[in-house]
Amino acid sequence: MTSEQIAAVRTSWEQLRPISEQTAFQLYTRLFELHPELQHLFKTDTREQGHKLLAMLDTAVASLEDFDTLSTDIRDLGDRHLAYGVRVEHYALFEDALHWALSHGLGERYTPDVATAWRALFGRLADTMRGHTAYAHGSTPQASAS
Ligand code: HEM
Repeated sequence: MTSEQIAAVRTSWEQLRPISEQTAFQLYTRLFELHPELQHLFKTDTREQGHKLLAMLDTAVASLEDFDTLSTDIRDLGDRHLAYGVRVEHYALFEDALHWALSHGLGERYTPDVATAWRALFGRLADTMRGHTAYAHGSTPQASAS
């Protein structure tokens, strides 16, 4: 990510902070509206799930210059997602719901440059999470969160 993109993500993240809980909630609501088949993967209440996502994103946004320090944690997060039943193709659906929620929360402040910066961050997170070879093989996880 460029330093401009890092700044754009940080500024918009601060702008969202007062409404971050609603934004996370809207992300999941949107995801389940468009893709109801994904809802069964989630066992945790949507608000609590939103808190976990926000905490993770908070750490990522704070560590953008130093992303490598997070990569082991993010790879582990990706491994857990495999066990939750998440598949490689689900990432694009999640990303769309994330952008929808960000644009809803930020309104006019969600400029094309801000959107591009968030795409860069998501791409980095998702690429690291999907680094696990089992994603590529679409294998059935052993520790399924049934
Ligand atoms: C950049 C992308 C993503 C991030 C940062 C993220 C973050 C998280 C975090 C922090 C948790 C909490 C549990 C844990 O730490 O293991 C979680 C759980 C979960 N995520 Fe994600 N996630 C992402 C993408 C996705 C995608 C694409 C899906 C597919 C629909 C998904 C589905 C789930 C499910 C099913 C759980 C478990 C919920 C439960 O415990 O009931 N996530 N995610």
